[in-house]
Amino acid sequence: MRILDTKFVRGFIKMADDGFQQGWHERNGGNLSYRLKPEEVEEIRPRLNESGEWTPIGAAVPGLAGEYFLVTGSGKYFRNIIVDPEACIAIIELDDKGENYRLRWGLVEGGVPTSELPTHLMNHEVKKRVTNGAHRVIYHAHTTNIIALTFILPLVDEVFTRELWEAATECPVVFPQGVGVVNWMVPGGREIAVATSKLMEQYDVAIWAHHGMFCSGENFDLTFGLLHTVEKSAEILIKVYSVVPKKLQTITADNFRAVGKAFHVELPEKFLFEKPEFKIGDEGF
Ligand code: 13P
Ligand code: ZN
Repeated sequence: MRILDTKFVRGFIKMADDGFQQGWHERNGGNLSYRLKPEEVEEIRPRLNESGEWTPIGAAVPGLAGEYFLVTGSGKYFRNIIVDPEACIAIIELDDKGENYRLRWGLVEGGVPTSELPTHLMNHEVKKRVTNGAHRVIYHAHTTNIIALTFILPLVDEVFTRELWEAATECPVVFPQGVGVVNWMVPGGREIAVATSKLMEQYDVAIWAHHGMFCSGENFDLTFGLLHTVEKSAEILIKVYSVVPKKLQTITADNFRAVGKAFHVELPEKFLFEKPEFKIGDEGF
């Protein structure tokens, strides 16, 4: 089958375009990666290019040795993926140590995989391990409202999780483990990859202060839906805090316990603290 006609490539392209339509991918902002299933690699193997040069990943991911990934190209615009996918995305293969990659398809006009490849692959390595191989998608987007929130809320996992949960009743059901926050760091390297993948041990969502968000999931729908839900909550919070510095009423810790019981999800008690009086602009929380 032609690589562009496979279900996973079509799903990848649709997700990228959905993200662009949401306004999360100005210029070359954001990146997406998908870990291929063995049967998907076999399906396209006759159409892969001859093996090229091995290139260092910039991080070691031995847990992903020999795996294939579909990734966005560095500097490529999400808005162009749907019209010219072969120029914007690539299939890469990792070596038997998980230290180097080589290009096997795509980026026909030249280029390299996303500059966030270390974060994508370190996240994949963690998620493959902690989900028994279930998670296959890592998505990074420059979500406007989450970025805005990182200027007005303390950069603390518990605070972000509780605020995002309070913004919409379904949130604790969609991301019951909560969200992690990475303080501002230089993007595109191993250091931020280490910090992010550490959070991915316990969360499916990692927020990068003043930059955007990373999400992990089993498939394109679940991963897009997760990031979309978190960003929608952030939008509600930004609207609320644009009107008043303090909510008049909200969903309480006991309300969350009731939601957890009704929907059979375990909500960690560390997010259900009794809240001190808080208003935007206060120091601390
Ligand atoms: P790339 O174009 O290299 O994927 O970088 C975009 C980005 O969002 C970096 O964080
Ligand atoms: Zn980015």
